[in-house]
Amino acid sequence: MEHLVIRGGKPLSGTVRVSGSKNAVLPIIAASLLPNSPCTLVDIPDLADVQTICQVLIHLGAEIERSGSNLVIHPPEKPAAEAPYDFVRQMRASFLVMGPLLARTGQATVSLPGGCAIGTRPIDLHLKGMHMLGADIEYGYGCVRTIAGPKGLQGERIYLDFPSVGATENIMMAASLASGVTVIENAAEEPEVVDLANFLSAMGAKIKGAGTKVIKITGVTKLKGVKYSVIPDRIEAGTFMVAAAITGGDVLVENVIIDHVKPLIAKLGEMGVIVNEENGGIRVVGCTECRSVDLKTMPYPGFPTDLQPQIMALLAVSRGTGIVTETVFENRFMHVSELKRMGARIKVVGAGRSAVIQGPVNLSGAYVKATDLRAGAALVLAGLKASGETTVGNVHHILRGYEHLVEKLRGLGADIN
Ligand code: EPZ
Repeated sequence: MEHLVIRGGKPLSGTVRVSGSKNAVLPIIAASLLPNSPCTLVDIPDLADVQTICQVLIHLGAEIERSGSNLVIHPPEKPAAEAPYDFVRQMRASFLVMGPLLARTGQATVSLPGGCAIGTRPIDLHLKGMHMLGADIEYGYGCVRTIAGPKGLQGERIYLDFPSVGATENIMMAASLASGVTVIENAAEEPEVVDLANFLSAMGAKIKGAGTKVIKITGVTKLKGVKYSVIPDRIEAGTFMVAAAITGGDVLVENVIIDHVKPLIAKLGEMGVIVNEENGGIRVVGCTECRSVDLKTMPYPGFPTDLQPQIMALLAVSRGTGIVTETVFENRFMHVSELKRMGARIKVVGAGRSAVIQGPVNLSGAYVKATDLRAGAALVLAGLKASGETTVGNVHHILRGYEHLVEKLRGLGADIN
């Protein structure tokens, strides 16, 4: 099992460039199944998750060439209709091929994604959307099969019980080629949903309201491939901003859309961290000792759940008591026990939905394990601050979502291998 070894205590300094957004790229690659001509995607990070969804598309008959940070995707004339378990097991985001496959071929069989460390991760809202667009749903052999009716998919008004990012994306992709108008109510407003909507619109889809709670999609009969650049990764940007704060460093984070990290900028400011826009990027100057704050994760534009583990590491070394409430996933405190092994004083309360962090403590290096992508990132951040040596195991979780993480941190002066 691969691991990272970090010798902490050094303030980070310098400039780091954020890569393209993993969570924008994954649905956009899935959506490249929709047109009947090739797409060229620009600034695509070289990540395991990107390779996995490309494998799914290749399995479905697509041809994909990578040239530098560009991907050229030739959609198949007639996509195969099944995305097998092996790929969907590796990454639940493979389920995002459901909508495009159903729209293109009139049916789709996708393995049921397992749960993962942070929760059961159900897909009921995805399937509610497909069903309301006129598809029949069948289960069997660990797969779910959607079959459009004889008239194909029909636009419909769909209310999402929770503003699910994936369900919003899957429905938007399917509705793009449905006949009639689809309205998604209580839709997710994340920037990655907006980026997907912009990509679909560039291909000829008719979409209004992406980035708000109500998205209207008027179906068209076909889409054409385009060249498209994806947005920068706001979660990677936020992770580096917290790295600067926790090490008391001075880092310029480049290639970031300020609006997308507003909740983190606000929280870091409350904690005493100096955050300023500087020639197109964000400059973060950490404080010798930050002040604790309370925070609650919420769907966008609230504080992102994907930065909750990272800011918890910062709270562990900040003065006071901070309460973190996780409202998006039911089990996203797997990093707590690992941070406690490094000396953090954290207590999970409120039926596992809240954590009370008391600080400051002097974190000490230890052997810890990443349980999921962002928990792993939090352990790296804690290791950058801790005295002595921290070894982070199960590092494959981390490398799924952070392109060239070791090189980027070394470039900021971190002692990491
Ligand atoms: C996306 O996952 C992201 N992944 C996640 O990032 C992110 O944490 C999450 O959105 C929330 O922002 C990608 O975009 C590939 P959801 P997704 O559907 O779409 C419940 C990372 O670290 N729900 O918005 O799976 C679900 O149980 C990853 O990069 C249903 O109940 O998230 C959860 O509690 C982790 N039924 C909540 O909604 C459904 O049908 C949020 O899930 C779907 C979801």
